[in-house]
Amino acid sequence: MHPMLNTAVKAARRAGAVIVRALPDVDRLRVETKSRHDFVSEVDRRAEELIIDTLRGAYPDHAILAEESGSTAGNDYEWIIDPLDGTTNFLHGFPQFAVSIALRHRGRLEQAVVFDPLRNELFSATRGDGAQLNGRRVRVSRTADLDSALLGTGFPFRHGDDVAQWIGFFERVALRTSGVRRAGSAALDLAYVACGRLDGFWETGLKPWDVAAGLLLVREAGGLAADLFSDADPVTTGHVLAGNPRVFQLLHERFQTP
Ligand code: IPD
Ligand code: CA
Ligand code: CA
Repeated sequence: MHPMLNTAVKAARRAGAVIVRALPDVDRLRVETKSRHDFVSEVDRRAEELIIDTLRGAYPDHAILAEESGSTAGNDYEWIIDPLDGTTNFLHGFPQFAVSIALRHRGRLEQAVVFDPLRNELFSATRGDGAQLNGRRVRVSRTADLDSALLGTGFPFRHGDDVAQWIGFFERVALRTSGVRRAGSAALDLAYVACGRLDGFWETGLKPWDVAAGLLLVREAGGLAADLFSDADPVTTGHVLAGNPRVFQLLHERFQTP
């Protein structure tokens, strides 16, 4: 395993242990509201501190972009961290959340870890080296038509989100696929595309830490992941379309049609 990936795995497992330990007492956690419907708990912060300590211990010069503490300048390497993706699920005891850590070098995604601490599922990828689930190679599904496809998405829920646009996308696929799931962790949604549990995924308005690791996982698993509207980098825009190559293409066509 690449040493930088190894460090990211160590960091993700440490954070995962903190998250799982806190779960039984989730009702007693201190929770703040960042904006309406957007929460952060002391567990998010503690997990993020642990991740940053672990990464900085090994690579003190690397830059950091972390959801709860923001950016720290550094050299050409940048860690992109979501200490707990699926905070709302976590706060409700709904068992779907993950730790997400990616490494970019000069803007290119190099390493990725998405860790589901409840199922002990560790998704990882190094650019050019494929994607793995608990050390075993994974690939995107072979589903070749929308009718057989299971899709993931994220519903709008924040003030100002474009509900009409999401409904427009949904209308274009609703009766044409096997189903659409809203599981509540974009990082895991993308990891599930990478290992073939989902055939495709779309969501808008995401942040770099929600998607950076998941995008590399999908691409390294043989899938396609891009901006939903343009050629821009989806890490920056947060508008993501992903899938196995065929489902990606079919969704892209459907979403382009007025
Ligand atoms: C959220 C999850 C969710 C997505 C939201 C994200 P958080 O991340 O990824 O699936 O729909 O847009 O903010 O806030 O739980 O880290
Ligand atoms: Ca997130
Ligand atoms: Ca988060």
